[in-house]
Amino acid sequence: MKIGIIVYSKTGNTLQAAEQIAARLTKAGEQVEIQRFTAEEESAQSSRPVRLHKTPNPNLYDVLIIGSPVKAFSLDPAITMYLQQVEFTKQVPTFCFLTQYFKKPWMGGNHTLKQLLSQLSAKGVAAQSLGIVNWSNAKREAQIDAIAEQSVNMIQGITK
Ligand SMILES: Cc1cc2nc3c(=O)[nH]c(=O)nc-3n(C[C@H](O)[C@H](O)[C@H](O)COP(=O)(O)O)c2cc1C
Repeated sequence: MKIGIIVYSKTGNTLQAAEQIAARLTKAGEQVEIQRFTAEEESAQSSRPVRLHKTPNPNLYDVLIIGSPVKAFSLDPAITMYLQQVEFTKQVPTFCFLTQYFKKPWMGGNHTLKQLLSQLSAKGVAAQSLGIVNWSNAKREAQIDAIAEQSVNMIQGITK
């Protein structure tokens, strides 16, 4: 099984979480590839994305994991732009996770997760959440570990 982790990460947190998830999956014997993309932004004053630097193909994998940061209590517009630009031609098990600065998921994370699941659903993708990493929470590492563990359980559950 080839697992693709597609991640938008501006300052590296979501990428770091993706790398820890990938390491856990690799340890469990899975083949994992991380595809990070970034975006060109309108100006130094406005972080509105105007162009993606890369548009990873989501159709190269047997399982997809999509990771995104929370931005202004909502889904980062770069992820929305990405989802508008790609077509999902294969139905594969798809999972997602978020990172956010604030300590609790109700501080924007839960709402953002619903947005991400709904935008994926609009593209014909029935995704499941792996969870949210609250970057300023003292339990951040445990949250990442739990997401990584859950990804192993979910993915190995599919292949059984
Ligand atoms: C413009 C901007 C808005 C943000 N808004 C929120 C927010 O509403 N809630 C939150 O918890 N974190 C917010 N954050 C923090 C990011 O979600 C958090 O640092 C995330 O882990 C960044 O991921 P990245 O390093 O992969 O880009 C914001 C960050 C930026 C730059």
